[in-house]
This record gives sequence, C-alpha cells and structure tokens, in this order.
Amino acid sequence: MKKKIAVLTGAGVSAESGFATFRDSGGLWEKYNVNDVASIEGWYRNRKLVLDFYNGLREQLKAASPNAAHYAIASLEKDYDVCVITQNVDNLHERAGSTNIIHLHGELTKVRPEHGIYDDTGSEREVIDVGYDKVVLGDKAPNGVQLRPHIVFFGEVVPKIEAAIDVVSEADIFLIVGSSLQVYPAAGLYRYARPDAPIYIIDPKDVPVHDFRVTLIKDVATKGMEKFIKEL
Ligand code: APR
Repeated sequence: MKKKIAVLTGAGVSAESGFATFRDSGGLWEKYNVNDVASIEGWYRNRKLVLDFYNGLREQLKAASPNAAHYAIASLEKDYDVCVITQNVDNLHERAGSTNIIHLHGELTKVRPEHGIYDDTGSEREVIDVGYDKVVLGDKAPNGVQLRPHIVFFGEVVPKIEAAIDVVSEADIFLIVGSSLQVYPAAGLYRYARPDAPIYIIDPKDVPVHDFRVTLIKDVATKGMEKFIKEL
C-alpha cells in the first residue's frame, strides 16, 4: 500500500505563477478591502463590486499557468496516495495533473445561486462551471436567483473542512506549502496530523507553528518542493 501524503496549499504555491498572495507586502488585501470583496456582508452590500473582483481574478487565471511546484505536487502521485487540500480558488493544481483535490475555499471557475434550493453553503448539485467567463448582475441560476461566486466568503462556514480533517488525520506525512496559516479553520488542520506523522512547511518566511513535528523548508515553493522530494 502506498503511503499517504496530505498537502495543504495556500497562495504561496501560486505566487510563482504570477498571483499576488493576500498578506505579503503588495498582496491583494493591501489593494482591496477584504470586507468589501470577500465577505458575505460585502456581497449583500455591493454584489457588483464582488462580481467584478472575481471576474478580474478569473481573467488573470485564464492567462496563468501552473509552476514547477504544482507539477512537483502532482508528481508525488507516482509513489504516494496524495490528497491536495487547497485554500486557493485557482485551478492550477488540476491543470498540473493532481487528481485528488479538496478546494476548501471554493473555486474561481464556478458559480452558484446566492440562495440554493438544497442549502446556501454550495450544494454541488447547483454549482455551475463558467470557466473563465464574466458573471454580471442579472445572471441567474435555473432557480431564478442571482449567481454568486462559488467562493467561501469570510463569515461563512467551510463545508469541506470535515473531509480535510479526515484526510490529514489519516496521512503518513503532512506537507504545507505557501500559507501564512492565519485563516481558520484551515490554519488548525495540522493539529489533526497523527502524532507520528512528520509535518513539513515550505515557505520563504517563518510560519508560526509551534509543533515538535515541524520541519521548515525555508524557500519558495518551486525550490522547496525540490528539497522536499529529495528528503523523501
Ligand atoms: N513560495 C512559497 N510561499 C510563498 C511564496 C513562494 N514563492 N511567496 C510567498 N509565500 C508565502 C508567504 O510567506 C505567506 O506565508 O505564502 C504565504 C501566503 O500567505 P497568505 O497571503 O496569508 O495566503 P493564504 O495563507 O493562502 O491565505 C489563506 O486567506 O484571504 C484568505 O481566502 C483567502 O485562502 C486565502 C486565505
């Protein structure tokens, strides 16, 4: 049986694909007010602003490509049973060939009705793949209500956190790439790692996780993944 690797990724894994992270200097949350464009209150205050913000990111994603770190993570599947738990809403892991991905915070290329028939947390039955198309005010779902980004906004539940906890708690190795680990519940996932499971963190900065199991590979994602694979 193959060993299991759980990989938690954040904005840092896509930084070398040209995507700004959120909290670094020059990051997205310096340019935009997170409460305006990425919170549930912001959505109801000004839907157009939120739709435009995600239309812009979708356009950027269309032009972007996976980098060597996404490919290296996908290549782990040759020898390991891998699940990628990503906080990113881009599709660069899919495009690099990863086949088992949990999108904790939703997906840029998808939308859904703001009020669902089944529930409001994003039942997969109502999710619509729009690819890289723009979505504007007046674009409606089959149930007649406005389409919204299939994104977990601040102030909303994270429906896939339980699936992610299961994956982390069963993993032989836990790898974290490019996340400041400031946003919960994703930031607390490492606490579910088995006591004997090593935890690797790849990040050019010190990430404040105080756990004896952690090995910090202090580097950017592409170089850090090379080092991680050598270490395996
Ligand atoms: N390679 C690896 N890591 C990098 C790189 C790089 N080239 N460049 C920056 N980083 C690191 C930063 O040092 C930082 O620790 O990536 C991390 C990015 O942190 P954040 O910007 O906070 O992004 P993330 O942790 O993914 O944010 C979590 O916050 O706003 C929300 O919903 C959004 O999913 C996101 C969540």
